[in-house]
Amino acid sequence: MEKTQWQEGPSRPGRHNRDRGVILGIKNNVVLTVVVAVITTYFLSSQWHAPRHQETHTYQVDATDLEYGIKQCALNQRRPVVDESLGSFRLGARSSAGPRTILHNATLINGDGTVTTECSIEIQDGIFTKVSRAPADDPVPASSDDKIINLQGRIVTPGLVDMHSHAGVRETPQLWATEDVTEISAPVTPWARAIDAFKPHDQAIPVIASGGVTTSLILTGAKNQISGEGVVVKMKWANSVRDMLVNTTGSSGKPQRYLKMAMGENQKRQFEHSSTGPSTRLGESYWYRKAYDNAARLKRQQDRWCEAASTAQGLMSITQEYPHSLEWQTLVDVLRGDVRVNVHGYETEDILAMFDHADEFGFNITALHHALHADLVMDQIKARDIAVVGFSDSWGDKKELYNVSSYLPRRISEYGIPFVLTRDHPALHGQWLIYEAQIAHHFGLDAESTISSIISLPARLLGLDNRVGFVRPGYDGDLVVWDRHPLQVGATPLEVYIDGKSVTRASDSLWETSESSLYTREAPTSRSSQVPETSCRPGLSDIVIRGLKTSFVGNDGLRSENPETGNVTVVVRAGRIVCVGGNKCDNVATQALEDEVPSMELKDGYMLPGLTVVTRQHGLTEMRQEPSTADGFSAGEEYAKPLSSQFGIKFDGIHLGRAYRSGVTRIVTPPLTEGFFHGISTLFRSGATSILDDGAIAKSSAALHFTIGHSAKSSLTPSITSQISKLRDLLTIDKNISPVYQSAARSEIPVVVHTNNKDVIAHMVALKRETGAHIVIVGGSEAHLMATELAEAMVPVIVAPFWGCEPLFWDSRNCLPGPPLTDRLGPQVLLDAGVKVGISNWDDTNNHIRNSIWEASWVAGPGNQSLALDLVSKNIEDILKLPRSRDFVAYEGNPFNFGASVALIFEEGKARSCYPDVDEN
Ligand SMILES: *[C@@H]1O[C@H](CO)[C@@H](O)[C@H](O)[C@H]1NC(C)=O
Ligand SMILES: *[C@@H]1O[C@H](CO)[C@@H](O)[C@H](O)[C@H]1NC(C)=O
Ligand SMILES: *[C@@H]1O[C@H](CO)[C@@H](O)[C@H](O)[C@H]1NC(C)=O
Ligand SMILES: *[C@@H]1O[C@H](CO)[C@@H](O)[C@H](O)[C@H]1NC(C)=O
Ligand SMILES: *[C@@H]1O[C@H](CO)[C@@H](O)[C@H](O)[C@H]1NC(C)=O
Ligand SMILES: *[C@@H]1O[C@H](CO)[C@@H](O)[C@H](O)[C@H]1NC(C)=O
Repeated sequence: MEKTQWQEGPSRPGRHNRDRGVILGIKNNVVLTVVVAVITTYFLSSQWHAPRHQETHTYQVDATDLEYGIKQCALNQRRPVVDESLGSFRLGARSSAGPRTILHNATLINGDGTVTTECSIEIQDGIFTKVSRAPADDPVPASSDDKIINLQGRIVTPGLVDMHSHAGVRETPQLWATEDVTEISAPVTPWARAIDAFKPHDQAIPVIASGGVTTSLILTGAKNQISGEGVVVKMKWANSVRDMLVNTTGSSGKPQRYLKMAMGENQKRQFEHSSTGPSTRLGESYWYRKAYDNAARLKRQQDRWCEAASTAQGLMSITQEYPHSLEWQTLVDVLRGDVRVNVHGYETEDILAMFDHADEFGFNITALHHALHADLVMDQIKARDIAVVGFSDSWGDKKELYNVSSYLPRRISEYGIPFVLTRDHPALHGQWLIYEAQIAHHFGLDAESTISSIISLPARLLGLDNRVGFVRPGYDGDLVVWDRHPLQVGATPLEVYIDGKSVTRASDSLWETSESSLYTREAPTSRSSQVPETSCRPGLSDIVIRGLKTSFVGNDGLRSENPETGNVTVVVRAGRIVCVGGNKCDNVATQALEDEVPSMELKDGYMLPGLTVVTRQHGLTEMRQEPSTADGFSAGEEYAKPLSSQFGIKFDGIHLGRAYRSGVTRIVTPPLTEGFFHGISTLFRSGATSILDDGAIAKSSAALHFTIGHSAKSSLTPSITSQISKLRDLLTIDKNISPVYQSAARSEIPVVVHTNNKDVIAHMVALKRETGAHIVIVGGSEAHLMATELAEAMVPVIVAPFWGCEPLFWDSRNCLPGPPLTDRLGPQVLLDAGVKVGISNWDDTNNHIRNSIWEASWVAGPGNQSLALDLVSKNIEDILKLPRSRDFVAYEGNPFNFGASVALIFEEGKARSCYPDVDEN
């Protein structure tokens, strides 16, 4: 157990009652000799000059105050340090009592991405004690208490480090009572401390740990500008935050400390209507400068006090106690260089304004967080030696992160700027930090930098790379055993150790399946973004495609049950596929080439039908927080004349574009509503340029959509009771108000119900039994609890998002976190029970759609590409009674894993796109 870092940290003004022992026994009428003794104690190792004379005097200030001040002056000379020798000190100081855990034959991917095979790793007394390459040369004799595990080559990494988390201060499921992330009573609250609000029983903590994250910097929020000090914790279950703290204090006696500041949209939004502002970035800068101006003034007062106290003469002239202020001391500490400054901000103007403030007041910035436009000002960031702590797949949602480059991580890292990935839990669930890294790797960040970005680099930026971020003797025993290479789709920890103790371990059956050769120990190859010379041109209706390893598209141009594999050629004539296969297509291909049909040669090619997914707002919303970029919300009460989204779809957005260029060619979106009733959804082509294009909107598509839950703001259906009973009425006694409900009651058009909650789902099963309507659940976080009933009643579920377990809200709190905590993911339980399942996305930010095939592949497991594909194409078509896709998409590389890229999109009889860059319009 560690004490709070403040117990051995610099004493703060007003807190000197916590400074134990040193000055005991001194009475109020102090004599100079005593003061000199105090000075000697504190100043010996500093450049401070102690007064030389030893005469007896009385002073104008209370002795305790004087001593306190002098102590502060000494501390002001010191900075926090990272003790490089901590590891060897720990190894030397060990009494070596506890039992050992010895892991044999591990493939160690260390915190910087370096790989060592056949490692033996010994953990004892909470730390790594031996890491050796050749166990045979150096056999470790085991005692009976020791635990010996042969990993048979499985991959281990140090525990992951997430340096931007709000676990414990924004508990999930979110409740008003536990929302303690930002003290929004003022724009500037540097005195606030995450540790004071930290809830060790946040149920997210063990779930995050089960994703391999062992150390987190818990930051205060970004709703105001200087939100306070963060705290570093280990993600282990405890009753007290003190049992989770990492000792950040080094030999200088000062702890590493972390400040959170934030600029940009959030703060304007938060204080727009407050009399103090800020309501613009102008105001934000004023508040920063004002705060640092106060701090700089206080620091000068302190420095003058210390200057005076440095001579005997001066000491006697001091008339006031050491200047202090609870409000501003944290920022004084920033100015002294004692605090690592972490700044949230996206736009270049935010970054540059912050640089100005830093220069004006003389503080350094450790890391720019989020900073998703940092690639535009890399020279300035690098010159200042600042790190970027970002995301790999956050874009589109609001102006400041609208058009973020998919290649940001690679660009920043290749420029030589330390790049770290984070999840900002619970904005993105902290369990999936590894997924964040996998996506960065897909878009070109090399494997070593990707591993570093979630392990050794964040450790270094926390000033803790002397104890976490590496598997090295003397380091904290934080370790993850993986079921496959951590950058492979679906990679999952089998066991996680924190401080030498196993905090989660997968079932034996998961350990066993991970021995299968499908669980590969290689990183997927991330392809170069260079477009090859190719004869593929948009507009072609004749083309020969060679070099396919697998085609899921058959001779009829539709999905085939048994994929063609080997060395496959596809011949397209006059807009239709005429042959798919190996040698059997030789003649057709030769003929086509003689007819001068262009041909394209793929490397490791794959051909799939275009994917079809259901979303919340594609085509209807660009930036969720900017109403002018959205279709607007229907009142949600047009029951007699349900609206169809087809009149609102717009085709030029970044959301459609990126989904399309990733192979999602068809999207279903219902009208937006803030109520319970959406209206009728539309199936449309994500790649169309307008409604007037061939087949831009499918004529046959139609499903009725309802959202059942507390988010519904409709005045007519405020309660869940009223929502369910309204739906029942529309399918029964009120069905004659529109032919749509008659069709729905006859099961001709699907009735899609968006909900996560198990009991609402049960009501829907009952409603299906009662009415026979074709009810479909979308969402379904808790659907696994009703798996048998759903299967029996033949109610399909489109799980969205697929991991189904980001229990942000109460009505989805019983979601399944998946391995290693549970054997199965929610959608897998449904599949096992025989429920028809699709995978989609229904999140607000909407940017996961382009990842659909990976997420489907994650659910299907390695080696079941057919199922993966069905989850995002055929099953969705079946569930929503949609026409089959006749589009096809050719990829270079295996699209079921990371690293592949789209080579050709063919729709409506024509090649539409050749080697598209996912970002470009
Ligand atoms: C380690 O495991 C791999 C994979 O199972 C195996 O091929 C290798 O022989 C093992 N090495 C040792 C030293 O046991
Ligand atoms: C924290 O670490 C410092 C430096 O290694 C050490 O002096 C101090 O005793 C430690 N504190 C606790 C509570 O272990
Ligand atoms: C800022 O960083 C520079 C370079 O490392 C260092 O010399 C200076 O002391 C730092 N200033 C503060 C206030 O931390
Ligand atoms: C695949 O088949 C084509 C002709 O059908 C041939 O030219 C090519 O060499 C083959 N590739 C491999 C890897 O066998
Ligand atoms: C793929 O998953 C489906 C559905 O769970 C199952 O029926 C099928 O046997 C699996 N196929 C393989 C190759 O594992
Ligand atoms: C986004 O940025 C890319 C690269 O700079 C550019 O090609 C594209 O047109 C931009 N898209 C939008 C919608 O602004």
